[in-house]
Amino acid sequence: MAAAVQADTGVHRAQPHASNAAATQQAWWKHAVIYEIYPRSFQDSNGDGIGDLNGIAQRLDYLQTLGVDAIWIAPMYPSPQVDFGYDISDYESVDAQYGTLADFDQLLAEAKRHNIRIILDMVLNHTSDKHQWFLEAARSRGSDKHGYYMWNDGKTGAPGEHLPPNNWVSLFGGSAWQYVPAVNQFYYHKFYKQQPDLNWRTAAVENAMFASMRFWLDRGVAGFRLDAITTLFEDPQLRDEPPLGGTNAQGDPILQEIYTNNLPEVHGVIRRMRAMVDRYPGERVLVGETYLPSTAELDKWYGGARHDELQLPMDMLVGFANKLDVNTFRQRLSEVQMQVHGSQPLLVFDNHDNVRSWDRYGDGAHNAQIAKLIATLLLTSRGAALLYQGEEIGQPTTIPRRVEDVRDPIGITGWPKEKGRDGERTPMQWDTSNAQAGFSTNPKTWLPVPNNYRTINVQSELADPASILNWHRKLIALRRSSAALRDGSMVMLDQQNADVLSYARVSPSGGATVVSLNMSAAPQTISLDLKTAGVKDSALTTLLASPSPISESGPAHRITLPPFAAWVAASQ
Ligand code: NOJ
Repeated sequence: MAAAVQADTGVHRAQPHASNAAATQQAWWKHAVIYEIYPRSFQDSNGDGIGDLNGIAQRLDYLQTLGVDAIWIAPMYPSPQVDFGYDISDYESVDAQYGTLADFDQLLAEAKRHNIRIILDMVLNHTSDKHQWFLEAARSRGSDKHGYYMWNDGKTGAPGEHLPPNNWVSLFGGSAWQYVPAVNQFYYHKFYKQQPDLNWRTAAVENAMFASMRFWLDRGVAGFRLDAITTLFEDPQLRDEPPLGGTNAQGDPILQEIYTNNLPEVHGVIRRMRAMVDRYPGERVLVGETYLPSTAELDKWYGGARHDELQLPMDMLVGFANKLDVNTFRQRLSEVQMQVHGSQPLLVFDNHDNVRSWDRYGDGAHNAQIAKLIATLLLTSRGAALLYQGEEIGQPTTIPRRVEDVRDPIGITGWPKEKGRDGERTPMQWDTSNAQAGFSTNPKTWLPVPNNYRTINVQSELADPASILNWHRKLIALRRSSAALRDGSMVMLDQQNADVLSYARVSPSGGATVVSLNMSAAPQTISLDLKTAGVKDSALTTLLASPSPISESGPAHRITLPPFAAWVAASQ
């Protein structure tokens, strides 16, 4: 066993590789609330206007009272910061902007004292073009690092003309191929040209990247969030991708990504990675950034019936439905309960790459109430839950108004159609102590703090019993204390209702928690037949209601829900 540092608590497996299903029954990650921290924007401790690791340490008390089990820290490794850390130049250190390795170790120890695990972001699809491997690979075809990347001679054009080998486009705009005169070849990059793709058909790449993962596992991290994990492999024949018609915000043709995304070869890597991670004590976890077209595809990332790949590939189908539509949620939630061979869903509504759920689901008039409804859905469904910093206080998206203010390169090249991701990355709003909302003492923060910090901030919301923050805290406390919310099955109720989503979480001992969410702007009166969920028919007692009060009456459980109301109740 390679673990030099013992894992932080958790249920230890008696025998690594024993039956995964039995061993993981009580695993910490199954019920975890994982909180994503974008370190640049969470808390600045040294006044340079950029968040850092010591800043995260300062906020651990807050995270503990919120009730999170683990934090996922977006990349804090040395990086030229073209893609704000997703372009890594050294996988085994910390960028000076964020602190030192000693700061990281201290954060890990402090977090452990707060019963919070740390999950690191691991970028395996590509490195920075300033990584030592790529510098060597781009210098000469003879370099032993050349084969670490995806090179091709390209097509023959007119004399002196260099044409890429195929029509593949970068997700961030333009051809996915970049010509390098020193080797007279193109290299492939799914993202920015400063992020050359690694060649996962080279065994040395897998060995080196797994070694870097062990570097952090040995220090005691609880696992990894695997960035862009579906794009590790490309078609060896480099076939053109079929155009779907039309162009995207960057002006590139929209292609069907059948040769650059979700290739079956990736699953072999993931199985070996899981076996490696399972050799550590403490239930280390693999979380995947898995944007996939269907639940059937998602199931493959768990390893289907074998359960031998990722423990928690993110379900992006529920949280990114992007429409407050009962039938869509009912169908997608049912699918991820029924179609993944009993694996545990990980629901996500927000991250640092997408317009915040506040704006995607809000109707402009009831956003605060809708944010509570979304939080209820996220935190009372069966599975693990992911929160992104600021989501718990209802922080809105603040999109730059002028191109000269944009920091995210895709927002600069794509302006005005594509304004980039700065809007969801503005600093965390802590308090009203200064114009930087307590994020930094420096008036020049890397992204501006919007004026709404005066009312939308942690300090003010902690003091308001009806705030979005306190709603999250209550929900998290409830999901920790309720056997039904923790281990219960999830059974849909009142299934013909197109305005109200209702479900029961039924615990193995027979108790149930019932949830009803009115997704319409009108009051709705519903009746719930608990027997359809196999629950003994008894009165329901409100556990949480917003707006309050909401109660049931009569034998048929008649409940009237105000617009966008969220109601959680217990059967006796
Ligand atoms: C997904 C990350 O979340 C995003 O921020 C990044 O730009 C791409 N992967 C490339 O690493």
